[in-house]
Amino acid sequence: MWGGRFATGPDAIMEEINASIDFDQRLWRQDIRGSLAHAAMLGETGILTKDDVAEISAGLKQVESEIEAGSFTFSRALEDVHMNVESSLKDRIGAAAGRLHTGRSRNDQVATDMKLWVRDTLDQIDEQMADLQLALAQKAETHAASVMPGFTHLQSAQPVTFGHHLLAYVEMLGRDRGRVRDARERLNESPLGAAALAGTSFPIDREMTAKALGFDRPTANSLDSVSDRDFVLETLAAASICAMHLSRLAEEIVLWATPQFGFVRLSDAFSTGSSIMPQKRNPDAAELVRGKAGRVFGHLQAMLTMMKGLPLTYSKDMQEDKEGTFDALQTLSLCLAAMAGMVRDMQPDLKVMKKAAGLGYATATDLADWLVRVLKMPFRDAHHVTARLVGIASEKKIGLEKLSLAEMQAVEPAITEAVFGVLGVEQSVKSRVSYGGTAPANVRRQAKRWLKTLAKG
Ligand code: ARG
Repeated sequence: MWGGRFATGPDAIMEEINASIDFDQRLWRQDIRGSLAHAAMLGETGILTKDDVAEISAGLKQVESEIEAGSFTFSRALEDVHMNVESSLKDRIGAAAGRLHTGRSRNDQVATDMKLWVRDTLDQIDEQMADLQLALAQKAETHAASVMPGFTHLQSAQPVTFGHHLLAYVEMLGRDRGRVRDARERLNESPLGAAALAGTSFPIDREMTAKALGFDRPTANSLDSVSDRDFVLETLAAASICAMHLSRLAEEIVLWATPQFGFVRLSDAFSTGSSIMPQKRNPDAAELVRGKAGRVFGHLQAMLTMMKGLPLTYSKDMQEDKEGTFDALQTLSLCLAAMAGMVRDMQPDLKVMKKAAGLGYATATDLADWLVRVLKMPFRDAHHVTARLVGIASEKKIGLEKLSLAEMQAVEPAITEAVFGVLGVEQSVKSRVSYGGTAPANVRRQAKRWLKTLAKG
């Protein structure tokens, strides 16, 4: 298609390094959609005759059905999806096919195709994120009052509820979806018609093609239009942050599912056995979600590095934007699906969680708060008294609630029997009523709010 000035064809290695068809063939829908819009515009503006446009459109639809049916053969000699489609069009309709490329270039074409693909994929990822939020919020509502240990430094900190913990991830996914929405909104300008880099002398109507392809408007600078891959970078950045969130939840699930924690049981459907140790139930899906985050981050890094230092406008380096983007988004999509499945099936062991919630003097803060509230002690003094009581209990290897009133009064004479009312884990979580806190009533309210938001879609 570009061989007019060339005496020989490319070296086999040149063909191998140059061709993108092995991976960009997945853009075929977007490519044909873009060409149909471009052809219709060329007809509307009188740049092509209506007859040519009718032939081109009918031919493109034939190519589309053939690819759809799986009977199309992509050829590496034709480099990429754009030339494969156009060449097949030429085989079908002859001369008119050559007019389709009027007023455009592969540079604006590939930017358009890629934007359309990323946009479609972001929409699908957003739906999957919403589905995971739903799975988490439903479990959270059920377990609004189920007590579990809350950790800082992975050390027992204060009791929280399982529902509260799950809703933390619903919030994260809410921000992830915000990033997806932002990326989608910013990318939604049409590069089509920027042509090779400078625009075109043909009287094209870029508003028309933009509208036909669901873009909000055409891009305003032709040089920027063919060099911009910010939309890929933003998408990969958003995907990376979400993959990071999923890997944190995955890590928690891995921990929770150990016999040592014993907080949850994963379903058979999301566990694997060991070929040598019959007792084992391995959380492979969670481990893979944790591990695959690295792949997604790697693709973001690769893309930033590929783009840095590229002079305006298009350079072939940019063909390298595809495989990583496809792989990153496919990986994220699989991780979201696996996580939703695991969360839906996961059975918490409420007894084990509640017992663990009381370990490690998790209600020490409640005791200190009581000293402040009831005895009007300054918090720093209360902290000191509590630390001494924890020291005594720890030496005796018993919980705070097992200390006698006399033992407590030996440290602080003003302590009364009433202190025992705040030392239980249930009491502790119930008291955390500040906005955003873990009190079951709060958690129930937040779960309901999310379920309502998610039902609205
Ligand atoms: N396959 C190319 C890519 O993915 C299409 C654009 C080629 N443009 C060019 N001037 N060679 O980037």
